[in-house]
Amino acid sequence: MTRPSFFIETLGCQMNEQDSLRMRQQLVQAGYRPADEPQDADLLIVNTCSIRQKAEEKAYSILGRYRLLKESRPGRLIAVGGCLAQQKGDGLLERMAYLDLVFGPHQVTEVDRLVEECRRRGESLSVVSPCAATLEDLECPGVTDGVGLKAYITIMEGCDNYCSYCIVPYVRGSEKSRSHRSIGEEARRLVTRGVKEITLLGQNVNAYRSPDRKGFGFPGLLESLSRIEGVRRLRFTTSHPNDTTQELIDCFGSLGPLCEHIHLPLQSGSDSVLSSMGRRYTMGEYLEKICALRGKTPGIGITSDIIVGFPGEREKDFEDTLEAVRVVRFDGLFSFKFSPRPGTRASQFPEKVPEAEMSRRLEILQALERGISIEKNTDLEGESVEVLVEGKSRSGSQWMGRTRGNKVVNFKGPKGLLGEFVNVTIEHGGPNSLLGRMGETVDPSRLFGFGEAGFP
Ligand code: SAH
Ligand code: SF4
Ligand code: F3S
Repeated sequence: MTRPSFFIETLGCQMNEQDSLRMRQQLVQAGYRPADEPQDADLLIVNTCSIRQKAEEKAYSILGRYRLLKESRPGRLIAVGGCLAQQKGDGLLERMAYLDLVFGPHQVTEVDRLVEECRRRGESLSVVSPCAATLEDLECPGVTDGVGLKAYITIMEGCDNYCSYCIVPYVRGSEKSRSHRSIGEEARRLVTRGVKEITLLGQNVNAYRSPDRKGFGFPGLLESLSRIEGVRRLRFTTSHPNDTTQELIDCFGSLGPLCEHIHLPLQSGSDSVLSSMGRRYTMGEYLEKICALRGKTPGIGITSDIIVGFPGEREKDFEDTLEAVRVVRFDGLFSFKFSPRPGTRASQFPEKVPEAEMSRRLEILQALERGISIEKNTDLEGESVEVLVEGKSRSGSQWMGRTRGNKVVNFKGPKGLLGEFVNVTIEHGGPNSLLGRMGETVDPSRLFGFGEAGFP
């Protein structure tokens, strides 16, 4: 009998990508084989996101396509996981009777068992456990199958900030950190499999607190991981400005593998909007963090998220956001129109900004950022940067890699550079990437001394 096949479509953030990899690993271990296309699969899975209405609609549109596939070949199963599944639970089965399984983010490692149960019972199933992660969920085996040069480690889950617009605390639950020992073990396993760059993941990653060692927070974790031999590059995402302490800022430039990049969502440049968003910092406080980061590491790459059209955002508030972007000069920016999410406080706020006005503001903001990104990237022309070669460029004719500041660089080079660290001199800075000329391959021993392999 041929093994059943599966196909997973992933929406949303890196956390969901990581959950999908865990699901994939679990299904392969349970005897399933991955299919290249949805039409070839016996089990179709959508790992959903509910951060904005658009993400929700995208899930429904994919499910609509899967429904047709199921009609064309009865016996196929359709499963919906992730944050939308967590939010809607049984409601999804009521709305779409053709679904076979609805499961939450904490069921990713039992998806094979749930699918079997569906088949055995011959009926649809909805299994969505309470949204907070348990320590057990976090400790479950990380992804080590099929990892390449770069890997992710989930170090904490959930968020306690309850920003007034955000659904994450409702679908991912309260903050739970994983033990620093198991994070260290996973990092060691990954480097022995050839991983060179590790990104630590969490909805509020810098709020990390080791559950089994008092006072061991995020800077301590970064320091321990930096000491593991073979961890050549270390990154993390996403940070909250309020948890970006001086101790964390001091890690940049001090810990060899820690790359000089931070994604630090600002959300708005207006103090009154920040206050109704429940962000608990002012623009002035945010700027202080930026100054401290640049004071410690002048070339640090800083990227951010901004929401336009938050309820009550006046033209003056939007101008404040534009001014903030001019002052900070982000290296990259993700900007979104406000999207009311069910159950969040902001969804009930009056003074909605009309859709057309949100679009206008988004366009102005994106044009401003594009100009700044080009200027910043042009400033790099003539500089020599260290690049980890990740693969072929989009055009396929060049190599593509990233700088420590997380900028994409394309350059021509000989065969066999995949996974190498090379020095590249930047010749042209565009809005989204850099073009360079290759120098010599970087000798790792010159970059930083490997310390003790020990882990606390
Ligand atoms: N934990 C991270 C990011 C979570 S979601 C943080 O605290 O920043 C990623 C981004 O989506 C957010 O930074 C925010 O800019 C955006 N976002 C979240 N909820 C939104 C909503 N209801 N409407 C529009 N954008 C939203
Ligand atoms: Fe959402 Fe705010 Fe938590 Fe980020 S910090 S996940 S925006 S509630
Ligand atoms: Fe979306 Fe859930 Fe991530 S809502 S952004 S997939 S945590």
